[in-house]
Amino acid sequence: MNLPSDKTADNSMCHVDPTYQKIGGCEIEIPNPCCLIIFGASGDLTKRKLVPALYRLHKNNLLPEKFFVLGVGRMEMHIDSFREDMLTAVKEIFPEDFNHAYGEELAAKLYYFPLDYSSSESYIKFLANQLSLLEAKHNTGRNRIFYLAIPPTVFEDVIVNLGNADLSREDGGRTHIVVEKPFGRDLKSAKRLNRILKKSFQEHQIYRIDHYLAKETVQDIMMFRFANSIFEPLWNNKYIDHVQITVAENIGIEQRAGYYEESGVIRDMFPNHIFQLLALTAMEPPVKFDAGPVRDEKVKVFRSMRPFPLDGLGEYIVTGQYGAGKTNGNAVVGYREESGVSRQSTTPTFAAMKIFVDNWRWKGVPFYLRSGKRLSNKKTEISIQFKPVPHMMFSNLLNEPIEPNTLVLRVQPDEGINLLFQAKEPGSKVCLRPVIMDFSYQGEILLDAYEWVLLDCMHGDTMLSVREDAVEQTWAFLTPVIERLESTAQIGKFPNYAAGSSGPTEAALLIEKDGRGWRPL
Ligand code: BG6
Repeated sequence: MNLPSDKTADNSMCHVDPTYQKIGGCEIEIPNPCCLIIFGASGDLTKRKLVPALYRLHKNNLLPEKFFVLGVGRMEMHIDSFREDMLTAVKEIFPEDFNHAYGEELAAKLYYFPLDYSSSESYIKFLANQLSLLEAKHNTGRNRIFYLAIPPTVFEDVIVNLGNADLSREDGGRTHIVVEKPFGRDLKSAKRLNRILKKSFQEHQIYRIDHYLAKETVQDIMMFRFANSIFEPLWNNKYIDHVQITVAENIGIEQRAGYYEESGVIRDMFPNHIFQLLALTAMEPPVKFDAGPVRDEKVKVFRSMRPFPLDGLGEYIVTGQYGAGKTNGNAVVGYREESGVSRQSTTPTFAAMKIFVDNWRWKGVPFYLRSGKRLSNKKTEISIQFKPVPHMMFSNLLNEPIEPNTLVLRVQPDEGINLLFQAKEPGSKVCLRPVIMDFSYQGEILLDAYEWVLLDCMHGDTMLSVREDAVEQTWAFLTPVIERLESTAQIGKFPNYAAGSSGPTEAALLIEKDGRGWRPL
């Protein structure tokens, strides 16, 4: 985000006067010279997200002139093959929008360096040396971003060895480290990872990435709430009946069985993406639009979430796993038949939860959250359902109950906001109909989430990353629940929903027994 930030400990000495690039109607600041060191350079994330994002940034003239990428991986690979692989990946992602000249320009700034992640000596002798040579060649000064696009099993080796080689030190420039999710798999591992990071890096250098925070529509939640005076007075338990947050996907687990079997939907989606959406919806107005105060308010929400009673979990949480079915008219296999998945897997691919935020504003308002793979649709939205009017003076004249006002923040796809309200149907004397006031971004989204993530790390803005206390608070909330669910999991319980459906019947009951219903997917 191109906004003020937590830059208190920024000791950059490579600062030059800011220059801006106009994109759409927006002026975006071009970062200072820097280099990006990607660990996991031959991996999926680098190909699918990072290099394509760099390509688009370059095409929009948003990368600094003095810039290079050093891809680090365990495999031996010639630099030419690395460049070629990356260009092929970009072409595949933007088949119609690929410009050869821009592609070649970017490729010329990509380098590859094979490294044994566990060899401390190699960091000191070779990596540090290679970096200095490239920095001198590209005149980037000492602004460095280390991006960990690697499996969590090797996080520790890389972080410790960067520290041992003194590469984490801010020496005449900025040094940032970006850690991709999963940030731990429970409270204990998240705390351990934080401890290891903090031994070599300071909090202001650490970017725990949640790409949901970088989606334009997620950034808009705060703008919408705090830049309009008409909604905030109603944003509380006096007027809001309940909130629904849905992150539905129609894809399956693709080629990620190894990761997903260990993770499951709760770890994969809830402590990060979904709880961040919840925090942005429920938090108090921060004193300033600045990373520190915004992160403070989010953590307060996490601290207010009422722990689930472990002996009555069924009242609050439902899990599911998809069986065979159809998506987009095509037959697809069930989760247990996916390649790499155990035929007896009890890993959940769907979860729905009812959460209460016990504070002054939200006391008594349920937040219903759900997420799943292989559902009927891809849809992420937050819906705020208001209470019915206190006295329904038309009830003796109308046959049906009237739909309450609902405000929907559509995160993706079809990004926008709509408000449902009642209006008189022309003609008969008392006839109401629900109408929808709709705002749509209509494809106006300028930068994709990973483009914002990379820009923000270069600018030193931590607004879109997650602070240590938030990570630990969300794991503290979920860890006992996950442990209980795992210890009581039974093979016979799954699959309990068909691919292409809207999830398990039990999920519908979770909300229906409260006299409410899920919004259609
Ligand atoms: C990732 C999860 O963090 O988010 C994936 O690991 C999920 O399982 C993805 O598919 C969803 O992201 P998006 O941006 O496609 O909604």
